[in-house]
Amino acid sequence: MGVAMAIAAQLPFEQTDPLRTAPRLRELQSRGTVHRVRTAVGDEAWLVTGHTQVQRLLDDNRLGRSHPAPETAARTGESALFGDPLGNFATEAADHARMRSLLQPHFSPKHLRALHPRVETLTARLLDELTKQGPPGDLHSAVAVPLPILVICELLGVPYEDREQFRAWTADAANIRDRACSERGLAELFGYGQKLVKCKRAEPGDDVISRLCATEGVSDDEAAGLSIALLFAGHETTVVQIGLGALLLLPHPEQWQALVDATASAHPWPASNCRRCSPSW
Ligand code: HEM
Repeated sequence: MGVAMAIAAQLPFEQTDPLRTAPRLRELQSRGTVHRVRTAVGDEAWLVTGHTQVQRLLDDNRLGRSHPAPETAARTGESALFGDPLGNFATEAADHARMRSLLQPHFSPKHLRALHPRVETLTARLLDELTKQGPPGDLHSAVAVPLPILVICELLGVPYEDREQFRAWTADAANIRDRACSERGLAELFGYGQKLVKCKRAEPGDDVISRLCATEGVSDDEAAGLSIALLFAGHETTVVQIGLGALLLLPHPEQWQALVDATASAHPWPASNCRRCSPSW
């Protein structure tokens, strides 16, 4: 775009309420759909605030995570993972298609449906423990944190005892202020992925990492990278979402009830597996 635009805002925006759009962002939204902003590390960038425009951009194959000249690209922060472009511009489309084709078989609707009863059982156990402890209950530490970690550990075949370690590395890798810390976390995670792959090659289990290792043409490093990507993408996201979901539903009991009703009517597994009917595991 050849037209120079004034800098409309400095990132990050102050977030006064986790359930509401930041006030400064709302204000920009009311003024237009595309803005010139300065990122937290001082680079100029575009911020798109219009829903239709965002949707069109996400649908557009010309947009991706890589950049033809990464050293010149605007950066959003210091994280080695989220701060700057990722991947190879020349091969991104093919690399992404390969990642999807390798992961898709393990995350089909059939596979995920088969996981439902187990997730229900784990949830029931955690809720029972929370109830036993009496008020005040801490949903975050009692359910939101352990549940996604238990599920992703079982799915991938990662030892649950390693959770403190890989969570610390995940947090380091995601650090948006300290580049060296972020790179260290990422390197530790990758080393951990390589260790897991070595174990699974020696002693395969009934889990996604073992199955990735057994897939023809998948090298140790590719299996390690995919395993770590899943471990990373598969737990912190869900931890946050459980907390936000609870916060959103608490002041709206009618929406909570509608969700309970919809879930009950869509129950895809036998009632004997439901946590209300079968609390033991
Ligand atoms: C509520 C929880 C979750 C949220 C909010 C979430 C959010 C997202 C978002 C926004 C992306 C797109 C990122 C981008 O394109 O830059 C993404 C991609 C991805 N997520 Fe999640 N995610 C969640 C749970 C999970 C879980 C449980 C797993 C795995 C077990 C997972 C695996 C992935 C993978 C593999 C990708 C890359 C997909 C692709 O590029 O084709 N996510 N997720």
